[in-house]
Amino acid sequence: MSFRTTGSPGADYVEDVSPGSGTLPPRAWYASSDAASLSLNGSWRFRLSATADAEDDAFAGQGYDSGGWAEVAVPGHWVLQGSGDREFGAPIYTNHRYPFPVDPPRVPTENPTGDHLRFFDLPDDWPTLLAKGADADGTDSAVLRFDGVESCARVWLNGTVLGEFKGSRLPHEFAVGHLLRPTGNVLAVRVHQWSAGSYLEDQDQWWLPGIFRDVTLLHRPAGSARDFFVHASYDHREGTGTLRVDSDVEGRILVPGLDIDVETGQVITVPVRPWTAETPYLYDAVLVVPGERIPLRIGFRTVALEDGLIKVNGRPLLFKGVNRHEWHPEHGRALDLETMREDVLLMKRHNVNAVRTSHYPPHPAFLDLCDEYGLWVIDECDLETHGFTEQGWRDNPVDDDRWTPALLDRAARMVERDKNHPSVVIWSLGNEAGTGRGLTAMAEWIRGRDGSRLIHYEGDWNCRDTDVYSRMYADHAEVDRIGRGLDGGPVKRRQLPFIHCEYAHAMGNGPGGLADYQRLFEAHDRIQGGFVWEWIDHGVKDERYGFAYGGDFGEELHDGNFVCDGLLFPDRTPSPGLLEYKKVVEPVRMEGDGVEGVVRITNRYDFADLSALAFTWSYDVDGESVGTGTLTVPALAPGDSADVKLPEPPVDVRGTETRWTVRAVLAGDTAWAPKGHVVAWVQLWCAPRQSIGVTARRRPALDGRGGITLGPAVFSARTGELVTVGGIDVSDLKLDVWRAPTDNDEGAPWQPDLRHGPLWRKLGLHRMQHRLEAVELSDDALTVRTRVAPAAADLALRTVYRWTSDGPRLKLTVSVTPEGDWHQVSLPRLGIRLGLTAADRVRWHGGGPGEAYPDTGSAAMLGRWESTVDDLQTPYVRPQENGARAGVRWAEIGRGPDFPALRVEGGAEFWFTARRWTSEQLDAANHLTDLTPGDTVWVNLDHGQQGIGSQSCGPGPLPQYLLPVRPTEFSFVFSETNEINEING
Ligand code: GAL
Repeated sequence: MSFRTTGSPGADYVEDVSPGSGTLPPRAWYASSDAASLSLNGSWRFRLSATADAEDDAFAGQGYDSGGWAEVAVPGHWVLQGSGDREFGAPIYTNHRYPFPVDPPRVPTENPTGDHLRFFDLPDDWPTLLAKGADADGTDSAVLRFDGVESCARVWLNGTVLGEFKGSRLPHEFAVGHLLRPTGNVLAVRVHQWSAGSYLEDQDQWWLPGIFRDVTLLHRPAGSARDFFVHASYDHREGTGTLRVDSDVEGRILVPGLDIDVETGQVITVPVRPWTAETPYLYDAVLVVPGERIPLRIGFRTVALEDGLIKVNGRPLLFKGVNRHEWHPEHGRALDLETMREDVLLMKRHNVNAVRTSHYPPHPAFLDLCDEYGLWVIDECDLETHGFTEQGWRDNPVDDDRWTPALLDRAARMVERDKNHPSVVIWSLGNEAGTGRGLTAMAEWIRGRDGSRLIHYEGDWNCRDTDVYSRMYADHAEVDRIGRGLDGGPVKRRQLPFIHCEYAHAMGNGPGGLADYQRLFEAHDRIQGGFVWEWIDHGVKDERYGFAYGGDFGEELHDGNFVCDGLLFPDRTPSPGLLEYKKVVEPVRMEGDGVEGVVRITNRYDFADLSALAFTWSYDVDGESVGTGTLTVPALAPGDSADVKLPEPPVDVRGTETRWTVRAVLAGDTAWAPKGHVVAWVQLWCAPRQSIGVTARRRPALDGRGGITLGPAVFSARTGELVTVGGIDVSDLKLDVWRAPTDNDEGAPWQPDLRHGPLWRKLGLHRMQHRLEAVELSDDALTVRTRVAPAAADLALRTVYRWTSDGPRLKLTVSVTPEGDWHQVSLPRLGIRLGLTAADRVRWHGGGPGEAYPDTGSAAMLGRWESTVDDLQTPYVRPQENGARAGVRWAEIGRGPDFPALRVEGGAEFWFTARRWTSEQLDAANHLTDLTPGDTVWVNLDHGQQGIGSQSCGPGPLPQYLLPVRPTEFSFVFSETNEINEING
């Protein structure tokens, strides 16, 4: 089908719905062990034009003088490579809105177009190789492969146009042997930022044009392989694998480890060790065809839909997955092998067992790593047309036959490229593309080509084309209904398993509620797990801001920091969300009773027994370990449990908190983590904490200098404010209910449910006024009465501070009584805030080492921890509430060897936060660079915190994690303690 063009002479292909022309049919992606290849990555000449047709194609010819051109790195995105006097445009971030008028397949006249030039000579032995080239059997003697170019390219070699293609995250190859010269080759690539293909690539990410994956010249000797398909299944009843390799060019398959030496096309069944993500056993093999040998790594496994469940090798799976976009803060989607490996290692180390390659096939090397280290993969096609939702899906390409060839081309390029990976167990048609005939056509084509895997597409709620019912951001209650089969839907859907392909939106602080989801996933067979959204924040390294997000490049339309919603910070530091996820999905469940001294251990792996793990115990007194040892645990099979006896407690201490910590650790080094790496843990109580008693033995007294003394403290007689405790100055101690709203507090504008952040602001919780009503001295207490309320409202929290002392210690009891109608409102936090000047170090007994909130606290391990104030901060790309330590029994904060420290003990366990700026400053900041430390460290001691939830794109906190406004009393005991010793880090 062709369309009328509006004026890009010679560039009609840009707005043509066809996938391209001149390319070779898609095929498997492999590396030959003896056919040569030449990487064309490196520095390329580069010229940027404002429109698709600003320049003619003379640059593609021999002898063109490109001396004045700039250079860019390939792989790379040109918008990330400008500098100083040579700017090459800028990244644009939109979630789903197209950053151009929706007028398919038209794109703007302003269409940044990058002309790229690469000059190369062939290595010395190539000319002879090419001479022996393979034209006779229909193969060209060399193939030029592009692994990823956004969004549309026309390619010339030595002045001859090879063709054009679209499909940014898919490979495209051209036959070029007949055009190559021994020296002085000129490869010219014209890349357009916008094309008809852009309508199919509306994923929620930066728009980043460029040649962002490898460019390779592959020698194709006579008799070389073209495409081949490894079929390697596993019969779990017999323990055998069945292998058949179909190859366009006949040859033999050798698997030395299995004594296999058979012809291609021949079926052979032998006993094998199966491949699973937990036990990723790969057999080295070789495909030998007349012209070359191709090393293969074969994993035997069978994926099936059986009894309404996704099974591999006969057993149902539970996905503990993440959605992974490709991201590097400096290189965008141009990732090197080490970065990909880092992702895989981080996943394995955090108990992640699955990846959805949202929303396009990743660099092929990533799938090799998934095969090798073991991860289940949902390989997703490079397809999203989400922006059409703005017009009720009118003109959606997936429901318009003219686009179907492009859709089928994308499906084929994914399946053909990736079909030989055992890790890929499910094909996904794409993401958020509405519904339509084009998707059905893709599903039918995929089924016909590869019946050995299942098909996924989230947009297909009726499961017309899919093998699994998939949804995103369903709330806990709905997941529970789905698990119970009470969700309705057509008959076909009711018989299918469910996966939560996106949930737990990890934007900023959060996601909350992970443990609650996991309980549901584990409770219902039908629910086969989920994939957290998403793996990494797509922050762009930027000298102005640290990391930039949407809007920081002056985009006309943008979606702000919605692009920073990952479990990793942009530099790949794990966020607290990833540590929480690791704990929540740990593959060994341990529970028990510390008093009885029994721990029940359950193997939650789907395939592996527990023989790779060792178990240790530690006995802790007041947070300090006083004894450790090992536990003998049987190598339980998946699903099995055993009760294991703990030893006698190593010491007999009364009147203080004692508990066991049991850890499952790697018994030996693995490919992804060393021996001793903690996989799972639990803490079991022997004796609970006793709360501290302070008998009011001191009487407050006016000191004649405007102060009131009480035990170790001095107060202002005028305001009743605490001034010092021991030698330590304290400022501005008062009730605090405000926190800098998190992205999840703010919620997404389209959320139908109450969004707490906006409500809090509307009520004025960020500007509470404290009116002093009375300062009262009695025999044993100083009482300060206040009314805390926002302007323009009749809501208030009557707050009474009652101070008592036993001499060395000072006790504060805070009573809060709400006035007015608060019943629709919950509080961000409830506690006190105070300022300290001489403070930069903290140690505490409580949850740690990282932050925790009511619904993100699984990973907080109780113990004694220490930190600098700076290290208590969690660097969310957009600043927001962070850094609370949960379950704190006591905390000491001071300034190192020469200063006394303030010790705080909670009447009850409390939340401890300390930072060098106020919550108001944190709230006002847009980037971390907006936060300037002041002289004062602001300490929050909270009796309560509201949960986090994931309303930035999902449900808010569950009711049990809200902080309702009701009469509350809580207390803290302050004293001066010995100086805090040097803390490292
Ligand atoms: C989903 C979408 C993702 C991402 C996410 C929000 O709707 O599939 O690509 O946009 O929401 O971050």
